[in-house]
Amino acid sequence: MHSFHIPVLSEEVVHYLNCNKGSGVYVDCTLGGGGHSKAILEKIYPQGLLIGIDQDIEALRIAQEELSSFRDRVILVKDNFKNLGEILSRLKIDKVSGVLFDLGVSSYQLKKKERGFSFQEDGPLDMRMDLSQKFDAAKLVNSYPEKELIRVLENYGEEHFSKRIARLIVLEREKRPITTTQQLADLVLRALPPAKRGERWRIHPATRVFQAIRIEVNREMEVLAEGLNQAIKVLAGEGRICVISYHSLEDRIVKNVFKEAAREIGKPPTYGLKIITKKPLKASPEEIRRNPRARSAKLRVAEKLID
Ligand SMILES: C[S@@+](CC[C@H](N)C(=O)[O-])C[C@H]1O[C@@H](n2cnc3c(N)ncnc32)[C@H](O)[C@@H]1O
Repeated sequence: MHSFHIPVLSEEVVHYLNCNKGSGVYVDCTLGGGGHSKAILEKIYPQGLLIGIDQDIEALRIAQEELSSFRDRVILVKDNFKNLGEILSRLKIDKVSGVLFDLGVSSYQLKKKERGFSFQEDGPLDMRMDLSQKFDAAKLVNSYPEKELIRVLENYGEEHFSKRIARLIVLEREKRPITTTQQLADLVLRALPPAKRGERWRIHPATRVFQAIRIEVNREMEVLAEGLNQAIKVLAGEGRICVISYHSLEDRIVKNVFKEAAREIGKPPTYGLKIITKKPLKASPEEIRRNPRARSAKLRVAEKLID
């Protein structure tokens, strides 16, 4: 396994996607380093086909190498999963047996300081998953009006000190542009009330701010609902959708989209969904010990009704 990223809840994903049947067309909407895709292919090869989608060109390059032994049973596509329907119609694929979403950023993206996702190391304030996109974190931080900054920090970071942080961003950028991850992380600390600065934090105060900015830069919440609805549409009867989310905002969207589609049962044309996991599945303590990233993971599974 490439050190790119350790896949989370991998056995559960393969099990719930019914890959043991040994065939079928599966879509991995968040290919990353290809960890989950490889686990799926190990079950469905050579009868089955896997389509791997990622908007990050670097992820695709690494996954291509990782999956090279499965040759013609893999199709990799650089695109946003919000275009899932179009991607499949380009490939002349009508219905699929299963779809996986493993949301957010990979360990590779987080660790590579040039990508600017992490405040642990200094890098350019970037945070784009799609490197061909023009809008990045520096543009956001240096151009959003104060009110918009507050909205982003509150909605996507649930940040208590959003007003203080937004105010300091505006004051600071009047002096010089904010262009590095370290500059932003230091600013967040300075924006906290003095009593909070010296505290021993459970999580670093910049964590929520970086999460919020990343979500806005990549329009993560907007594309999620779109991608999920398209996935539900392209599933064949008895096909399954698995979604792994890492924070409550994502999980809420997944839960609501599933619930909404489950309500459609019996309404023509059939678009109904049966929810398989009433409560989301979580990683075992053993998995969390091996892979701390699994700590916050929640897996939800649903099944398309026969159409
Ligand atoms: C958590 S990682 C997936 C890791 C993968 N499951 C593995 O085992 O290596 C998420 C990946 O999805 C990609 N991604 C996130 N949102 C996306 C979107 N809307 N469209 C396409 N790719 C997306 C990211 O670029 C990242 O590579």
